[in-house]
Amino acid sequence: MEEKLLFRALLFLLLSTSSVVAIWPERSPPVAVARRAALENGLGRTPQMGWNSWNHFACNINEDIIRQIADAMVDSGLAKLGYDYINIDDCWAAYDRDSQGNLVANPSTFPSGMKDLADYVHGKQLKLGVYGDAGSRTCSNNMPGSLGYEEQDAKSFASWGVDYLKYDNCNDQGLSPQPRYINMSKALTNSGRNIFFSLCEWGVNDPATWASSVGNSWRTTGDIQDNWASMTAIADANDKWASYAGPGGWNDPDMLEVGNGGMTTEEYRSHFSIWALVKAPLLIGCDIRSMSNDTKEILSNQNVIAVNQDKLGVQGKKVQQDGDQEVWAGPLSGGRIAVVLWNRGSDEASITASWSSIGLNASTIVDAHNLWTDEVTSSVQGELKETVDTHACKMFVLTPK
Ligand SMILES: *[C@@H]1O[C@H](CO)[C@@H](O)[C@H](O)[C@H]1NC(C)=O
Ligand SMILES: *[C@@H]1O[C@H](CO)[C@@H](O)[C@H](O)[C@H]1NC(C)=O
Ligand SMILES: *[C@@H]1O[C@H](CO)[C@@H](O)[C@H](O)[C@H]1NC(C)=O
Repeated sequence: MEEKLLFRALLFLLLSTSSVVAIWPERSPPVAVARRAALENGLGRTPQMGWNSWNHFACNINEDIIRQIADAMVDSGLAKLGYDYINIDDCWAAYDRDSQGNLVANPSTFPSGMKDLADYVHGKQLKLGVYGDAGSRTCSNNMPGSLGYEEQDAKSFASWGVDYLKYDNCNDQGLSPQPRYINMSKALTNSGRNIFFSLCEWGVNDPATWASSVGNSWRTTGDIQDNWASMTAIADANDKWASYAGPGGWNDPDMLEVGNGGMTTEEYRSHFSIWALVKAPLLIGCDIRSMSNDTKEILSNQNVIAVNQDKLGVQGKKVQQDGDQEVWAGPLSGGRIAVVLWNRGSDEASITASWSSIGLNASTIVDAHNLWTDEVTSSVQGELKETVDTHACKMFVLTPK
């Protein structure tokens, strides 16, 4: 009954939005029309922004660190720029459930409990995320998984005031991902609180093709590592799913490594620029309590963030490749185009983006806003040609005149 109503509602939404790409029969699930079938919990209308503990701290977390990160998010000015989720990854819960089967915070590292932490984070006008697992235990093996406990755990999260769930895929008991993730999605819907659902299924069962009706974002790849080879490979692997992303449901090529020390400043600038262009979640993964000025400058670039958060919500793609020289581009609201000229080679190189490959008519004249230098070049026509350093990029927004 309820499902039927939901489909009616979705159908209505479809017909009332400007471009309808496909209509599915009322009874069959909206599998291939991902962009139009997003989970309508109202969340993730633009990619989520915030912080997650894993890339820097792994299991070495406690409630003091999380509070200090929330403080730093506000004090650094990052919160004002849109980074509002403070997400705790694996290792926040006790090894065992309590006698009623409830998840409980680890008493030695989170002695005040999750409700208290959520209250603290909310007091800073930020939101709290937690981590769970669609299997018998989490990936670190330090926490119980939620398989078979979906309703109970979702209610616990809601009762604590949790705003976001990252849901991992370890110890799956031989069950395929889709029903396990659907069960948690339903449990969150029934929990009484609007909770952002981030699927961390690692792309194993092509979640882009089914997860938009289940959650607000879905990992498309394995875990990122803090090095150039990993970051570039993940950007490429994520690219093929571009057409499935849109407001309410995003491809997730994993969290940012900017500031963790394994890449150069220019490599991190490339990482951030590409993640922004492809409408990836912007989840900071470094210790923002002690970030360098370079790290802060990258994470705080409002021009680049605006591309990520553009209301059109279309994922940019690799549109041109000439050896190690690449052009990535995508449309923005107002007929504008975002372009990244990315030099993945080991020498400085010239890169030319032709109007035909980025979706402009040959005769179109644009103003080109360089998002990292903040300079505007007026009246550019036919192509955009720049010299780009090794492992660096230049990022522009082109506004047709
Ligand atoms: C999902 O939930 C249904 C209803 O509770 C249950 O029968 C089914 O076994 C669950 N599936 C998985 C994979 O957990
Ligand atoms: C970082 O920036 C601050 C303020 O913008 C400045 O006072 C400080 O000297 C800078 N630190 C370094 C190491 O450049
Ligand atoms: C490109 O040019 C054609 C023909 O002049 C025109 O119909 C079309 O609207 C133009 N497209 C853009 C994006 O300007």
